[in-house]
Amino acid sequence: MLAIIGGSGLAQLPVLEVTHRQVVRTPYGDASCALTFGLLNGQNVVFIARHGYGHSLAPHEINYRANIWALHDQGVKGVIAIGTVGGIRPDMPPGRLVVPDNIIDYTWGRKHTFFEGLDRPVVHAEFSSPYDEALRERLIRAMADSGHSGVVGGVYACTQGPRLESAAEILKLERDGADIVGMTGMPEAALAREMNLPYAHLCLVSNWAAGKGGAATVEFDATTGAMGVEVVMSVLAELLSK
Ligand code: HPA
Repeated sequence: MLAIIGGSGLAQLPVLEVTHRQVVRTPYGDASCALTFGLLNGQNVVFIARHGYGHSLAPHEINYRANIWALHDQGVKGVIAIGTVGGIRPDMPPGRLVVPDNIIDYTWGRKHTFFEGLDRPVVHAEFSSPYDEALRERLIRAMADSGHSGVVGGVYACTQGPRLESAAEILKLERDGADIVGMTGMPEAALAREMNLPYAHLCLVSNWAAGKGGAATVEFDATTGAMGVEVVMSVLAELLSK
């Protein structure tokens, strides 16, 4: 069974045939919301809305540890994380899909590891390639087979939020090598790695990053937003058909 973590604009999966919901208790507190189990294209999946139902949790308020722990506890074989991002690189305009291949973490103060506390040995998780290659390949194939062009590869910068970046901050991220910017990719990806849970990221560009084409806003214009959700759904359906 695969897990899907839905981001902004994706608090529910419209194509999911829901079978049941389950609240999971975790040693790290409450997950963002109950897990939703169901069938997508005939395959079992479990879905969680990262920001909770009704988008009530800001990026720094999300209990990433509880979410990843809860999914791992269900025995999932991998996680497809959906996230909206700002586009920094010229070929990443609003509406474009991106499957990044690396991460730079600029967040701070988030509970970002399972390996802390007196009763836990320190483990230094390997993270040179933060995403699972096999799962990325499946995502990339699904994107192509569902007829959607997207950018393969790119560096995802994770900022703290909830405010958007200044234009100067985006220039700094660009100099660092970042191509897209979001607020929720970390520590989620690292926590999945700590649990040896294959994790891949499907990013949908909602806006140009600050200074890259007008005032940045994380709001989609209505057309891009509706189309984006549809495109993400069809990529997920394709992925699960194999
Ligand atoms: N910056 C950070 N996070 C985002 C953005 C952005 O421009 N758009 C969507 N998530």
